[in-house]
Amino acid sequence: MGTSRRIQVGIVGCGPAGLLLSQLLHVNGIESVILERRDRAYVEGRIRAGVLEQGTVDLLRAAGVAGRLEREGLIHGGIEIAGAGERIRIPLTDLTGGKVVTIYGQTEVTKDLIAARLAACGEIVFEAEDVQPLDYDTDRPRLTYRKNGETVELACDFIAGCDGFHGVCRASLPEGAIQTLERVYPFGWLGVLAKAPPASDELIYAHHENGFALFSMRSATISRNYLQCRPDEDLTEWPDARVWDELRLRVGDSDGSLVNEGEVLEKSVVPMRSFVAEPLRHGRLFLAGDAAHIVPPTGAKGLNLAASDIHYLHRALIAHYKHGDDSGLDSYSQTALARIWKAERFSWWMTSLLHTFPDTRAFENRMQLAEIEYLLASKAAQTSLAENYVGLPF
Ligand code: APR
Ligand code: PHB
Repeated sequence: MGTSRRIQVGIVGCGPAGLLLSQLLHVNGIESVILERRDRAYVEGRIRAGVLEQGTVDLLRAAGVAGRLEREGLIHGGIEIAGAGERIRIPLTDLTGGKVVTIYGQTEVTKDLIAARLAACGEIVFEAEDVQPLDYDTDRPRLTYRKNGETVELACDFIAGCDGFHGVCRASLPEGAIQTLERVYPFGWLGVLAKAPPASDELIYAHHENGFALFSMRSATISRNYLQCRPDEDLTEWPDARVWDELRLRVGDSDGSLVNEGEVLEKSVVPMRSFVAEPLRHGRLFLAGDAAHIVPPTGAKGLNLAASDIHYLHRALIAHYKHGDDSGLDSYSQTALARIWKAERFSWWMTSLLHTFPDTRAFENRMQLAEIEYLLASKAAQTSLAENYVGLPF
């Protein structure tokens, strides 16, 4: 025998998208339940990117969870690009009329949001098994799941599918309800978290004939660096010494004065793809975050795009509950997708600009080099990068 109860919004997935939606709805008097298939330690332990656009920071502030972020986040007004034998700084703030990005790990964003949800007695069901979104093409959607051997049913007004790329919500849609557009890149990133001061005060994105490298950070003492690698790269082929040598080589640190070595805390390979599902709504089911789209991490847009989806979706739900106005729900998919496609373009462009592609011909390689040289020398090209990197308006 199972139990059944009613809630306003049923959210599948306890990543940044589901958590931020739940918290923003709560602040506005709308209650939700989050169903998450993993346990809390797993969700809080995942290491992801760490660059927040101002719009994302503003949304976290509106959700009441920006305290630690404002104390510990690092404000950056520029990034560096290395390639074609040069390394230059792109002054993001000067080129965007004063905008900045904040370096603060997604892992920390997730921890802060979970703490805030639980402090406000918000309900997160961790280890919810076999979550099923049902009847969302009617006005009585349901979510069912199993927990401790018991089947539970939640009758909801709306379901938010915030369950990531491999989630159940998008997969449950009937054949033909959405189309998906995808590009899988012929490489991945080997990510290395290390107890070592970052190479520079700001992030360095580097192009080299051996492949792309990125020098990022979590704090003044923890660096987070990446190397382009094969999508199925075998980590046993990458002892720490090889990682450091390759990082130095790709950024042109010939005398070893730039890259600081230290104890490696984590090493993993991330695959790279561009992916968009459209539309993002089917009946009373709404997709947001990685369930709806994936970007390659080069532009640091993954979390920020999840945040902009949630910006549109929470406002639409508030308008529904407070004013009986469904226009935001009706336009959610179109509005969110317009911004998603621009971030997809930027992420694809930055990936194409800075990675080496197997099997490309001499002409394509020269075009890529010419484009890097143009970017390094042109204020117009840098302004375009800066405008996108700090985040297009919501
Ligand atoms: N039932 C319940 N929960 C599920 C299911 C399921 N069937 N499938 C997946 N989930 C959970 C996952 O365990 C995960 O915790 O959904 C959550 C989705 O979270 P994220 O993958 O973090 O996705 P999202 O919240 O959209 O955040 C986007 O994460 O992947 C990065 O680069 C991306 O930064 C971006 C951000
Ligand atoms: C990170 O710090 O993990 C990071 C930073 C910038 C990116 C991707 C990842 O573009």
